[in-house]
Amino acid sequence: MVKYISNKGGGQGVDFETAILDGYAIDGGLYVPTHLPEISMDQLRRWKNLSYTDLAFQILSLFIDRSVMSEAELKSLISEAYASFEQKDIIPLYKLKSREDAYIMELFYGPTISFKDIGMAFLVNLVNFFLNRKDKRLSIIVATTGDTGPAAAHFIAGKSNMDAWVLYPKGMITEEQERQMTTLQHANIHPVGVSNCPDGGDDLDAVISRLYANKVFKEKLQLSSVNSLNWGRIMMQTVHYFFGYFRVVDAVGEEVNIAVPSGGFGNVCAGSLARIMGLPIKTMIVANNDNACLHRIFSEGFLSKVAIFETLSSAIDILIPINFWRYLYFTCGKDTEKIKTWIDTFESEGLVRFDEKTFDLYSNGFLSHSSTDEDTLKLIKEIYESEDYLLDPHGAVALAAADYLKDRLGKNKLICLATAHPAKFPAIIRKALGIHDLPQKGTHPGIERAKKLCQKTFTCDFEHLETALIHAMESNLDLNVKNSH
Ligand SMILES: Cc1ncc(COP(=O)(O)O)c(C=O)c1O
Repeated sequence: MVKYISNKGGGQGVDFETAILDGYAIDGGLYVPTHLPEISMDQLRRWKNLSYTDLAFQILSLFIDRSVMSEAELKSLISEAYASFEQKDIIPLYKLKSREDAYIMELFYGPTISFKDIGMAFLVNLVNFFLNRKDKRLSIIVATTGDTGPAAAHFIAGKSNMDAWVLYPKGMITEEQERQMTTLQHANIHPVGVSNCPDGGDDLDAVISRLYANKVFKEKLQLSSVNSLNWGRIMMQTVHYFFGYFRVVDAVGEEVNIAVPSGGFGNVCAGSLARIMGLPIKTMIVANNDNACLHRIFSEGFLSKVAIFETLSSAIDILIPINFWRYLYFTCGKDTEKIKTWIDTFESEGLVRFDEKTFDLYSNGFLSHSSTDEDTLKLIKEIYESEDYLLDPHGAVALAAADYLKDRLGKNKLICLATAHPAKFPAIIRKALGIHDLPQKGTHPGIERAKKLCQKTFTCDFEHLETALIHAMESNLDLNVKNSH
């Protein structure tokens, strides 16, 4: 049975169920499986034509032991998770006409129209399954830069064993993203708009980890999280790399390049683990906007704390790529002591310089680029005008990076991840296209529906967030206890 340990080395190994229900490890680190499954070429060949859900079943079965759940239980959790996706294929791929052998992987056909639905749909079902079995309840707390929050709120809404506290930096996400969270009327969903966050979503993550560190509060509230710090999200996100790969290659074994708009490094981490497991990915392209912390890690070998820029691809306005630490575990000899030292140094000094050997190990098979807002706008317009296809700003950041790095990528096929639907960013689409009326492709019925609903939200200044949350969450718990008697 696979054990899960903290990438910072503290505490004991735990089983899969504990890793999923805890979110963070006991020492504040991220859970990692002590080893990854290896997938042979023969195995990959057998999987080539599987549907998304059948493929998910095969891959998840490598991580989820039959003693944890039966085959029938896993199959039913997967099929329920993806039943509400708009496309039968779950993740269609669009072949670009204006580029040679380049595909857009459309990860936005879930109910809240971003790639976060893909990991969240399954993870929330999984948490619900474990909680029902244990007859337990959890308070889930998530921070969002605009897309995790809607996905978490959507899938948790109405679940009798979970409350969701969804923190977002007020004014730093689009109105459309905000409405996706605040128009849900379910009593177990609590959106919290936080004003004056100097570093956007990173600030909110820091408050969550402080709440986790408050052992009495964590125990009382039964605190957990479904942010990408939760291993379940990363595990699930490995599947779309396999699926996209199978859809574009002529024969299994052919190597592809994959471009990913990146912030917290969760999605790239999942792709990198898929590659370590055996998926033939030649180059992972880490695409940043002006918040270029990952670009600095992969091109210059250091991570530094700097001020945040508000960009048009706001969901990746992130400067602390928490899942990079998780990925490092697998590339740096599983040396948890080293990882702990790097994390502590970053927290105390705001700067980590990786030694040459470490840099060579982790950057092998990666290229990175940081695109400007101007690049993003230009590319949205170019692709729309040349082939009537509408990219969202994040998909555009990914394609802009692949375009920029073209000469270093070689002739392999390119898969570019489109992580959100353009309807979440109407003001930017109008700006890019220089028009007032959005084209049909830039709208979505879910977004239109949310415009006509009342909003329900808490608001709080960042300065008081921690104490305000403790108070609000404890009051809600008391209310739940009263109602259950
Ligand atoms: C639309 C979109 N694209 C890309 C990302 C980056 O994903 P990750 O944080 O896993 O790097 C996010 C979220 O952070 C997102 O919402």
